[in-house]
Amino acid sequence: MKSIATAPAKVILLGEHFVVHGVRAILCTIDKRVTVSSRTLDDNIIKIKSKLGNLSTTLSKSVDEQNIPLKPFLHIAKKILEKFSTSVGIEIDIKSDIPIGVGLGSSSACCVAAAASVSGIFGKLTREEILKLAIEAERTIFQKTSGADCSVCTYGGLMEYSTEQGYRALNSKIDFNLVIANSKETHSTNQIVHKVQNFKDRHEEIFLSLCNEENVIVEKALTAIKENDLPTLGKLMSENQVLLDKIGVTTEKLKVLVKTASNTSYGAKITGAGGGGCVIGLTDRTNLEQTLGSLEDQDCECFVSKIDYNGL
Ligand code: PMV
Repeated sequence: MKSIATAPAKVILLGEHFVVHGVRAILCTIDKRVTVSSRTLDDNIIKIKSKLGNLSTTLSKSVDEQNIPLKPFLHIAKKILEKFSTSVGIEIDIKSDIPIGVGLGSSSACCVAAAASVSGIFGKLTREEILKLAIEAERTIFQKTSGADCSVCTYGGLMEYSTEQGYRALNSKIDFNLVIANSKETHSTNQIVHKVQNFKDRHEEIFLSLCNEENVIVEKALTAIKENDLPTLGKLMSENQVLLDKIGVTTEKLKVLVKTASNTSYGAKITGAGGGGCVIGLTDRTNLEQTLGSLEDQDCECFVSKIDYNGL
């Protein structure tokens, strides 16, 4: 028996990092995907194949003893076997066109697709159950995740997210093109999130006031999205970038990319944890080519994406 699931990549339009500390974020999925195929094995082992490496282990070994990047998938396999009271072997094969470690939600999309694929061998879980398992799996390598990435990768489209309220789909007719520039500097989300926590511990009042500013930006952005007002949304993204600079998650290269994209787009910022990764520029057909052209002159990999409304 084989079960296949796919989940999309995502970008954070506004609110990364601050979302971990209770502020709302706005995210959308884009048209790059991960596909996970799972099948049962006669042997009593769990096999995982992915770009991050391969793992073959017995069910008796604990998740904590295992190869760190593949831990989430082992967690998923064990939880599903427990849930369906079986102890067969499972092979999980992960194929992805989402660049790894650059803020496009590769890890979350893999967790969501793996939770759906492995569970699909034995029965049907609801999307809510799959999301819960995916977040739990991601926490084996990144404890402080807000859950925003897994949520958008599960449901797809454009959404608002907060740790308190969870996911809310934004039913807007907004239409834009995102120019995405991958700096090719990879990051560890876990490390950058810890860095921000240190900043918060050392500068509690400043951090609180930045959270309040982010809240106002997100609130205004929700109105701009409702009104299909790209110039205002872009301006708010650039204002968000100023706050991200203040908490120290930008690199010299990202600053250059943000500045380059800002010259012609409606607004630009990093997306995801920062410390490397990708920059996004908000455009439509009037400024897309120019923004893409100027970013292509920098040392980065560029592509254009629109919102992809297909989730898991
Ligand atoms: O860089 P990514 O795709 O791992 O994005 C992480 C987004 C953060 O806000 C920094 C963390 C989180 O869990 O929300």
